[in-house]
Amino acid sequence: MHFRKRINTTFHFLDIGAGTGFWTDLIFHMLLSHGFQTKTVALDVSDDALDVIRKRLPYVDAVQEDLATISPERCSNTYDVASAFYCLHHIVKTRDFINALQFAGSSVKQAGFLLVMDPILTRSYSKFDSFELYSFRGNGIPRHLYFMDDILLDLGLRRVAIYPAVSFILNGYIEAQGFLGYFVMDSFWKLLCAFYRSEGFVRSTAGIWRYADTVLKDLNLAFSSSLCLYQKIDVNVDKQVFLSGDRLPACGKSRT
Ligand SMILES: C[S@@+](CC[C@H](N)C(=O)[O-])C[C@H]1O[C@@H](n2cnc3c(N)ncnc32)[C@H](O)[C@@H]1O
Repeated sequence: MHFRKRINTTFHFLDIGAGTGFWTDLIFHMLLSHGFQTKTVALDVSDDALDVIRKRLPYVDAVQEDLATISPERCSNTYDVASAFYCLHHIVKTRDFINALQFAGSSVKQAGFLLVMDPILTRSYSKFDSFELYSFRGNGIPRHLYFMDDILLDLGLRRVAIYPAVSFILNGYIEAQGFLGYFVMDSFWKLLCAFYRSEGFVRSTAGIWRYADTVLKDLNLAFSSSLCLYQKIDVNVDKQVFLSGDRLPACGKSRT
């Protein structure tokens, strides 16, 4: 494991927008099972969600903060890994989103990692490119990958990998290669939603949809949310790359 080489004391993990702590607990136990002493902090704006964590996961520090207004430097260079799972797209105002992403990036130590899992736009066609903000009543906006890369690169974080997290047949579509693909997915998704209303149907066919989800992700045809891995450049080791302004490829799987 990458961290074993350089962490011989306590591993610091921050889960941003942790909710009731599903991922917080999963990652905490994964680290524990790899022999890491772990200090874990769960941050969320909702005290109700954090109360669940306080009761269920007493070994996690629960911190109530609003990512829209938190100082981006509040936890500067503190964590070996920070994660933001299905949180950032809920921060609809652009200024607030940038603040939240800057906080997430700045919280990571040099050579540490930031994991972002969210609906993220990576393709050429999306209805989110043409919606009208003033009348928008949704509670989430997918952002473009280049936009996130740009903000994080300013803080010294490079995207080192991107993977499809879930496909459109389970979580809806956000983008396509073109209008035709979008139309086909839209029709298929509407049909699926009609069937998904039946619990019996979902239970009896869950295996099929899970398998189909895996196949679509393997074929890079997920068109829904992604998991991005960023690493904070260790300027002592990686100075040349950082100074040359080497931008990452626009999309694709791992660089390594
Ligand atoms: C969809 S839930 C995801 C929870 C958890 N990460 C998961 O994947 O199970 C989004 C979480 O982001 C939190 N959130 C939304 N806006 C926030 C903000 N401005 N500051 C801090 N947390 C926020 C919500 O309270 C909620 O717990």
